[in-house]
Amino acid sequence: MKINIAVLSGDGIGPEIVSQALNVVKTICSVYNHDLNYEHALVGVAAIDACGNPYPDSTHELCMNSDAVLFGAIGSPRYDNDPQAKVRPEQGLLAMRKKLGLYANIRPVATFPQLLHRSPLRRDLVEDADFVCIRELTGGIYFGRPQGRSEDGNTAYDTCVYTKEEIERIIRLAYRYAGERKRQLTIVDKANVLSTSRLWRQVSQELEKEYPEVKTEYMFVDNAAMQIIQCPKRFDVIVTENMFGDILTDEASVITGSLGMLPSASIGIHTSVFEPIHGSYPQAAGRDIANPLATILSAALMFEYAFGLKEEAEHIRKTVNESLNAGIVTEDIAAGGRAFKTSETGEWICKQIIVNK
Ligand code: IPM
Ligand code: MG
Repeated sequence: MKINIAVLSGDGIGPEIVSQALNVVKTICSVYNHDLNYEHALVGVAAIDACGNPYPDSTHELCMNSDAVLFGAIGSPRYDNDPQAKVRPEQGLLAMRKKLGLYANIRPVATFPQLLHRSPLRRDLVEDADFVCIRELTGGIYFGRPQGRSEDGNTAYDTCVYTKEEIERIIRLAYRYAGERKRQLTIVDKANVLSTSRLWRQVSQELEKEYPEVKTEYMFVDNAAMQIIQCPKRFDVIVTENMFGDILTDEASVITGSLGMLPSASIGIHTSVFEPIHGSYPQAAGRDIANPLATILSAALMFEYAFGLKEEAEHIRKTVNESLNAGIVTEDIAAGGRAFKTSETGEWICKQIIVNK
């Protein structure tokens, strides 16, 4: 099969983790005889430095012409500490999501038995937790206008906007996912306060009737934040709006023991993007210590979702699992044992992929 991908490494640890994930992609393609073609493009700080635009047109064009995008991370302290910056690297990520129409961000949360001791939560609470967060990704307060400051600079505003159509497509997608899993959907909102949430609930209640095989529940986001930590096992599929999903998925990552383990797939109208849920971890940039597994597992999602290649995806997941068993892991999850480098972990996985052939 022809595997034609765009590689957007981005900022901070992005280049290091993506290079390991790309090696995994290359290895899988050679094992399964796929015809891999990939091209790098700029996004984030590097793109701002090169041309003043964090998501240049040339990058967008490459993404549009590819079958999938493998993405690293975005963000830099240079901008975090400059609230007045005119252009921000994160705008590149948001522009990419918007222009590619990636309205659904799928973040599976599953525990790894080998990492249960890493979770700050009690083992019996998190063992076998396995749910999927579906985050709406191109609407809400991230994109609503107006957004900005009053003329005197003393008042700032963001606007949360959702249309019926935006809500309907993400809720339908969530029902389809739930239908293929344990048939339980939790719709998270803040309908007791926000009018956008009330529209979410209204649209959801209308759609609910079309999916009688799925058990639907509605939950306020503050309650969901608590329940995700208190009883993560009760969830199957969670669907929510953009910012609630951003926050809840970082929270959910602690269940698995490390933010460095969670992959994601962003899908929608044009080319899908596969990226770890963690950020650019600037303190670790260039030090070869970051955990590449979330990005490698994102590559697995890419084979599965963008190319329908389930066996290849399983092959990657199985090998990642073996690296955990063998303790070939980076410092964030090394349990008193030796901490391996980003590159050592990636190289071990590539070799083992061939062994597992
Ligand atoms: C994420 C990130 C991004 C977001 C940032 C980097 C803009 O936190 O993908 O979760 O808020 O969506
Ligand atoms: Mg986030």
